[in-house]
Amino acid sequence: MQSDGQTDDQLFAGVQSAVAGNGSTDDVQHTVRIRNVRKAFGSFRVLDGLNIDFADDAITTILGPSGTGKSVLLKHVVGLLEPDSGQVLVFDQDIWSASERERQELRKRFGVLFQDGALFGSMNVYDNVAFPLRKHTDMRETKIRELVMGRLEEVGLSAAATKMPGEISGGMKKRAGFARALVVNPKVVLFDEPDSGLDPVRTSLLNDLILKIHQEHRGTYVLVTHDIQTARKVSDHIGVIWKGKLVQYGSTEEVFNSPDPFVRQFLAGKSAGPLGMD
Ligand SMILES: Nc1ncnc2c1ncn2[C@@H]1O[C@H](COP(=O)(O)OP(=O)(O)OP(=O)(O)O)[C@@H](O)[C@H]1O
Ligand SMILES: [Mg+2]
Repeated sequence: MQSDGQTDDQLFAGVQSAVAGNGSTDDVQHTVRIRNVRKAFGSFRVLDGLNIDFADDAITTILGPSGTGKSVLLKHVVGLLEPDSGQVLVFDQDIWSASERERQELRKRFGVLFQDGALFGSMNVYDNVAFPLRKHTDMRETKIRELVMGRLEEVGLSAAATKMPGEISGGMKKRAGFARALVVNPKVVLFDEPDSGLDPVRTSLLNDLILKIHQEHRGTYVLVTHDIQTARKVSDHIGVIWKGKLVQYGSTEEVFNSPDPFVRQFLAGKSAGPLGMD
């Protein structure tokens, strides 16, 4: 692939050198730190020495082309995938130096809304949201009811508590998934394309909801999206991943004003530029 006489590798090297840092500053805490993580599936390398720290009490969005390893990154953060090398540090603990039991304890402190993670089809909305509490705690049902109904109210689903997932719209399912991710009061919340399949108005409403809930509860939010408007609206920081590395990291304003040809092409959704179909 060539652009303006530069080879792909030259362009990539240029992009790499333009990365100012990984978001670590002395005055910001980072509950989740990814250090030089490499991951391959067979001979196919997905993460190639990825470094990124996610700032506490902020929403960090990960952008990047399809198949570039965004979902794989999130699975590393929650300890569902083990890096070939490098470290995933969560709450100051290297999750792969921890025991399986400790890892399970750490996982309970995450709220996760996965791209392919649907609601349990055989449970109504209420039971879906109650599930993590019933599974991970010995809380009494009266307390569970209070928490679940509180979360459902926050996401505007109080009236749909007894509905089955098959009876509600895509947007309502996303909100129910959000309520389920939040019910354990997690310090870290990961969203993998929460807006996929939603119309622009529902996407915008979901973004408002993410912002409102983040303002109320705070926490380290990491969001993967393909929707540039979502990234612009909700993010404090944006990281752009390409070819297994972080090629851009900065405040939302910095990234949207980036002079980098790859980032500009990606954000503008243009077909001409360094990024092709391969
Ligand atoms: N468990 C796995 N085994 C083998 N290959 C995998 C596995 N998980 C992911 N991959 C491969 O790793 C690459 C990155 O996948 P990933 O799902 O992270 O992409 P993505 O950036 O989330 O893409 P999209 O934007 O389309 O969701 C893909 O080529 C995918 O096929
Ligand atoms: Mg993905």
